Amino acid sequence: MNNTKIYQSFNSSPFKSIKHSSYFAVYEKLFEKYQNKPLTFIEIGVLNGGSLFMWRDYFGKKAQIIGIDLNPEALRWKEHGFDIFIGDQADPEFWQQIIKKYAHIDVVLDDGGHTYEQQIMTTELLKPHIKNGGLIVIEDTHTSYQNGFGFKYVSFLKYVHKKMDQLHYRLKSLHKDSTEKDIWNIQCFESFVIFEIDREKIKHQTIEVSNQNETSQAYDFRYTQNKLTESYINFAKKYFKFLERVNLIRNLGRGIKYALLIWPNIKSYFKTRKYFK
Ligand SMILES: C[S@@+](CC[C@H](N)C(=O)[O-])C[C@H]1O[C@@H](n2cnc3c(N)ncnc32)[C@H](O)[C@@H]1O
Repeated sequence: MNNTKIYQSFNSSPFKSIKHSSYFAVYEKLFEKYQNKPLTFIEIGVLNGGSLFMWRDYFGKKAQIIGIDLNPEALRWKEHGFDIFIGDQADPEFWQQIIKKYAHIDVVLDDGGHTYEQQIMTTELLKPHIKNGGLIVIEDTHTSYQNGFGFKYVSFLKYVHKKMDQLHYRLKSLHKDSTEKDIWNIQCFESFVIFEIDREKIKHQTIEVSNQNETSQAYDFRYTQNKLTESYINFAKKYFKFLERVNLIRNLGRGIKYALLIWPNIKSYFKTRKYFK
């Protein structure tokens, strides 16, 4: 933590900011590439102003730092050269003025109220307006496991899971409709979820491609297990077919056949279930 540039900027900020010790490594990983480059950076949640100064020191003079807060007291940071807007991060109308004013938003960092509604609405309202390659960084996502931030069955992390479904539904063979048009990938750290926006990367339907080069016709070993099971079944069918005439034995045979087919799944279930605790 101490050896990161962002931690030095945090410490040298003239005003108070409180962060978790694990956050600095995440900031450094996500934001290093933006240092000393032109950047439009929005932070939701200003409070004592300390983090605004941290960002300015870290990103350098070319960055435009915009602060959002419900509390009108945050307007005092305007005289220090920050763009400040007062409003509710979950309100679609509030964001209109900001979207109109800043055509190229690179990064939105949400350190606002941390309710599920605020985190979800912020993502939904802003994602169509972030530029390709830009990030929406939602901080303090541990609130999804805490009381007082909304109903847990519509928690922010439940929403993230839905978004992951949507990214996968883009594969045509799944025959599902994906409504996700902005998010290219989702990253997760302790207490952080990051959405990378890239409409270019997802604009085409995914299809299977082959380089058509030389093949040794290697057999895909994924199917070995089933092949073995099928050969047992075929063997039984061939040599014990006469037993099929007895109802009980026929039904027993079917039972054994299905048990054999699902046996690999039962084995995997017992092997992996400890990872679902
Ligand atoms: C955790 S503090 C921000 C701390 C600051 N980023 C820092 O590191 O020093 C949260 C801030 O979010 C603001 N806030 C809470 N709910 C909000 C909402 N719905 N919309 C915008 N800001 C909100 C609060 O007024 C408070 O100033």
